[in-house]
Amino acid sequence: MKKKIAVLPGDGVGREIVKGATSVLAAIGQRFGHEFEIEYGEIGGAAIDSSNTPLPTETLELCKRSDAVLLGAVGGPKWDHLPSHIRPERGLLAIRKELGLFANLRPVIAFQTLLQSSPLKPEIAENVNLMIVRELTGGLYFGKPSERRGDQQDVVVDTLQYTREEIERIVDQAFELAVVRQKKLTSVDKANVLESSRMWREIVDEKAKLYPQVEVEHMYVDAAAMKLVSRPKDFDVVVTENLFGDILSDEASMITGSLGMLPSASLRADGFGLYEPVHGSAPDIAGQNKANPIAMILSVALMLKYSFNLREEAESIEQAVQEVLNAGYRTSDLEIAGGTVVGTDQMIELILQRVEEGSAISSIMGAYM
Ligand code: IPM
Ligand code: MG
Repeated sequence: MKKKIAVLPGDGVGREIVKGATSVLAAIGQRFGHEFEIEYGEIGGAAIDSSNTPLPTETLELCKRSDAVLLGAVGGPKWDHLPSHIRPERGLLAIRKELGLFANLRPVIAFQTLLQSSPLKPEIAENVNLMIVRELTGGLYFGKPSERRGDQQDVVVDTLQYTREEIERIVDQAFELAVVRQKKLTSVDKANVLESSRMWREIVDEKAKLYPQVEVEHMYVDAAAMKLVSRPKDFDVVVTENLFGDILSDEASMITGSLGMLPSASLRADGFGLYEPVHGSAPDIAGQNKANPIAMILSVALMLKYSFNLREEAESIEQAVQEVLNAGYRTSDLEIAGGTVVGTDQMIELILQRVEEGSAISSIMGAYM
């Protein structure tokens, strides 16, 4: 198979972990006989520095002529003083919107060997395998108006807007996932307060009739936040609007021990996707060879699976990650007594070796999709 991948390292630790993604991809190409052509583009703060905009036209064009996109992370203190329309994060929001990537899939899987790294009790985190399906191109992130008002500029407004079509397509995507997973869908909203949530709930109920094999429950977002740490095993697929999904996915990452473990896929209806870690650019540890590259490397596995249907290849990456963790290697975000703490580069190298050699263990991530 021959594919062209746009790689956007972005800022901070994004630039360090992207090396893990490209080297693992090269190793997969070698071992399985695929050709992955890589072309780099700038986004976020790095793009502001070089072209005065967080999403240059060239970057967008590059993504459009590629088969998939890998992205590191954006943002950093250097650009924090900028007005909101030219902040690095604006580049990320714009690329999601411009490419129509409305479905953000964030799998949360508790690795047995990392249970001690989770702040949750091992018996609570054990065997968790849930999928957050976050709507990514609507809601409060994009609603207009979003502005300051009044003579004193002391009134603010943000807008939570959704069309029926926007809700229908994300709910459909979540049902399709539930069908091939554990057949349980939790729709998270705030229907006791928000009108948008009431329409969301109506649509979920309508769609539920088309998927009689899927058990559906509605949950208020505050209750869902509580349940994620008290009974996370009860969840299979969780579908929710943009801001709720942003918040709940950071919370859910703690089940796995670290935000540095969570990959994500942002998909369009035709399967085109952008793959990025859930974590940000982590300016506090950037440039120190400390970042955990696993979320980025697992994002490559998601890309192979979702965009190219290369399941065996994807699993070989997941297996390699599991083996390295089983062998006790940890980046400092996962530090535990008895493990061997390694830097970003060494973690990448350890995973790479196992991707090259192949492995016999089975992937616990098979139920991603
Ligand atoms: C995420 C991030 C982004 C978001 C930020 C960086 C704009 O937190 O992908 O979860 O809020 O969507
Ligand atoms: Mg977030």
